[in-house]
Amino acid sequence: MDARLQRRIQRYGWDKAASAYEAGWRESLAPVQVKLLDLANARPGERVLDLACGTGLISLPLAEAVGSRGRVVATDISGEMIERVCHAAIASGLTQLTAVRADAEILDMVPEASVDMVTCSLGLMYVADPTKAMTEVLRVLKVGGRAVFSVWGERANCGWADIFPIVDAQVKSQVCPLFFRLGTGSTLAEEMTSVGFANVDSVRLDYKLPYKDDSAALVAAFAGGPVALAYDRFDAATRDATHRDYLASISRFRTPQGYRIPGEFVVCRGTKQV
Ligand SMILES: C[S@@+](CC[C@H](N)C(=O)[O-])C[C@H]1O[C@@H](n2cnc3c(N)ncnc32)[C@H](O)[C@@H]1O
Repeated sequence: MDARLQRRIQRYGWDKAASAYEAGWRESLAPVQVKLLDLANARPGERVLDLACGTGLISLPLAEAVGSRGRVVATDISGEMIERVCHAAIASGLTQLTAVRADAEILDMVPEASVDMVTCSLGLMYVADPTKAMTEVLRVLKVGGRAVFSVWGERANCGWADIFPIVDAQVKSQVCPLFFRLGTGSTLAEEMTSVGFANVDSVRLDYKLPYKDDSAALVAAFAGGPVALAYDRFDAATRDATHRDYLASISRFRTPQGYRIPGEFVVCRGTKQV
């Protein structure tokens, strides 16, 4: 897919998804976000850049961890997401957190060697050129600084993955063609190493994504995620048909307590050396 088109789809797609994102994903993504925050281990006084911040689910805890002497700059390609982080920072009194709309590939507003840590939680799958984004991360990190990235794992281990072919069939193109690439095998760790990160550690995690019923599973899959832009344009009949197909694809994960959909993730941490 043309990179400019991909950026436009991401920007305006996530604008559409912003209001449903936390209802769809807050609970189910919490374990992998906690793991990333553990590996990140933000310390009081540190300067942190959080890329593809979404509604700020990790930016806010990072801001609490660095405290009033530290600084967190949260960036995202979606203006709606950035609005939400700005409001949340004000509502929580976290003056050390600012949010700016920016593509993860272009960090011109961040000076070279100026931050202690860069995080990106479940964002790199959507970036048109993740290698360029990682190279920018290395540029802005201080020597000894660290980067912690999480991505979804292998397609075969993510029980909700049929959402892509189901929506692709309606729009006659691929909504997220390379979504599972970085989470396959050791791709993310290898790409971090190849751009110049040292001491790259990788952990693969398996969780079950909980959804209490059909409606909760549908909100996450269609309204609050990467297919939201395409979905927004579907007429009622197309929505019904795609809902039916998606619920059939996840029916094997239904339990008496609701859905428990397998989700695999990879979290990698690396450092910048001289
Ligand atoms: C699944 S959400 C993750 C949000 C948040 N980091 C979290 O863990 O909840 C993916 C985010 O990536 C953002 N995104 C997509 N492409 C991007 C890009 N090229 N640069 C920056 N952000 C991007 C989207 O706007 C969206 O907010």
